[in-house]
Amino acid sequence: MRRLTTLAIALLAALAVAPAAGASNPLTAFTLVVPTSTAASGLQARAILPTGARCPALSVTTEVDGVRADRLIAMNARRPSPRTGSAFASLFVCQAGLPAHAVRASVGATTIPAALPDKIERIALLGDTGCRLKKGDPTQVCSSTAKWPLARVASSIARAKPDVIMHIGDYFYRELACPSDMTARCGGTPAPVPGKSFKDTDYSWLADAIVPLSPLFSVAPIVMTRGNHEACFRGGNGWYLFFDPNPRSARHCEPNAKGEVPDAVSKTWTQDFALGNGRTLHIAVVDSAYGNDGEVSSWKEREDPLYAAAANQSKAAPGRESWLLTHRPIFGITQWYPDGGGDPYWSWVAADQTAAALPHLDPFSMIVSSHIHVAQANQLPGMPGQLVVGNGGVLLETFTGFEIPAVGPLRNQDGSSMLPGTKLPGNATSTWSDLRFGWVMATPGVNAGEWTLSQRNPNGNEFARCQLATRQLSCG
Ligand SMILES: [Fe+2]
Ligand SMILES: [Fe+2]
Repeated sequence: MRRLTTLAIALLAALAVAPAAGASNPLTAFTLVVPTSTAASGLQARAILPTGARCPALSVTTEVDGVRADRLIAMNARRPSPRTGSAFASLFVCQAGLPAHAVRASVGATTIPAALPDKIERIALLGDTGCRLKKGDPTQVCSSTAKWPLARVASSIARAKPDVIMHIGDYFYRELACPSDMTARCGGTPAPVPGKSFKDTDYSWLADAIVPLSPLFSVAPIVMTRGNHEACFRGGNGWYLFFDPNPRSARHCEPNAKGEVPDAVSKTWTQDFALGNGRTLHIAVVDSAYGNDGEVSSWKEREDPLYAAAANQSKAAPGRESWLLTHRPIFGITQWYPDGGGDPYWSWVAADQTAAALPHLDPFSMIVSSHIHVAQANQLPGMPGQLVVGNGGVLLETFTGFEIPAVGPLRNQDGSSMLPGTKLPGNATSTWSDLRFGWVMATPGVNAGEWTLSQRNPNGNEFARCQLATRQLSCG
C-alpha cells in the first residue's frame, strides 16, 4: 500500500474514521439517485471503505400501513480494476439498492437518506466543484475556502435542506502534483501515479470531491452527472468507482493490457420526482464527458444515440415536465480566441453536443449544464431554457461582460453552417451571466412548468433569481 500522505491522513480524520483492518464502518456513505432498473426505489446506498474491510450490511427500517420492520440488506463491492495499480489500492466501495417504503437507512454508524419525500419542494443544483491544478493553467488556492469555496457551498446547501441534490459534473481537477513552488496553495495534493494513462487516485478524489461534498451526504439523495473531467484519461476511474449510478460499471475506464484507458461512455438514464398536484419532474441524464466544444467532430455520431435515448425516454405524459441534464451545455456562451491570434470573440458551446442534441430537444423544458465556469442562463427561440451552474468551486472564468455571440449556434465565425443541410436554431433572445461562486436552489412554481431558480452564494445568500415558465428562462 502507498504511504499515506499528511493530507490523506487529514482527509481520513475529516471523515472521522480510523481505518482499522476488517472494520465495517464506512469512511463515509451516501445515497445516489439511480435508474429504476438499478433499484426499484430509484435509490442506491453507497459506502466508501478502506481496503481490507468487508462490505457492511445496509440497515433499513421500512414502514407499510403503519407497520415498521427492520431489515439488513447485503451490500456488494465495487472494486477498482487491478490494472489501476496502486492508484485506487486504498479504497473500495459497497453498494445496495434501497427498498421501497424505507423510512430510515444506515451503513454502520452512518445514517444516509432513506427515501425521497412524497412531494419534492427544493432541488439543489451545483457543478464544476474541484480545485484546479493543471499544466499551463493558473493553480487555484485549494487551501483557502475563499478561493476554493466548495466546502462552504456544500455546507450552505446542507443548511438549506433540499429534498434532492443534482451535481452536473466536473468533480476532479487535481491532475498533477502540487508544483514545488506552490505548496502554500495546494501542498499535500495527492499526485497521480507516474506512468498511468489517467490522472486520478483514491486520495485525490477524497481531497477534490468526497471530503468537501460530505456535508451533503446525510441531507438528500444525489443525482451524479459525469463531466469531461471524469473522462477516462482524467478522473474516470474514480468516477466509475465512486459515483456512476450503474451497479456494474466500476471498471468502465479500466486500462487495457498495454495500460491504455478506453473512451468509455455511459448510457442515458432517467428518473422521476413527484412534485404534488399531479406534477412530475422527469430528468434525463446524458454523458457528455467527451466531444469537441468549438467544432463538430466524429464525437457527434457517438453522442447522437445518447440524446435520442433521452428524448425517447422523456415522451410527453400527463403532468410530466422534463429536464435534460448534460454536463456540456447545448446552448452555452463562452469566449474563444481565433486560431492564429486576434481578438477573442463570443461563441457557443458545445458543438458536438449541440449537433447531437438538436433533433431531440422537444420533450424538455430546461437543459441543466455546467462546464463553463460561470452562472449563466440563455434563451433561444423555440428551445428549452439553458441553465449553466458551473460556479460551484473551480476557478471561475476570467473574461467578463458576456454577450450574445454575433451568430447563432453551430455556425462558423463567418456565419456559415457547421452542419450544412440542417435547420439551425436562431440566435439567442436573452443571455445572463454572473461570475460569482455558488449554487442554485430550484423550487416549483404554482403552475405546471414553472420554477424559481434562486442563485445563492457560498454562504447560502441569494444574489440573483431566475424564472422558468413555458420553456422560457430569464434571470435578474
Ligand atoms: Fe469544468
Ligand atoms: Fe467541463
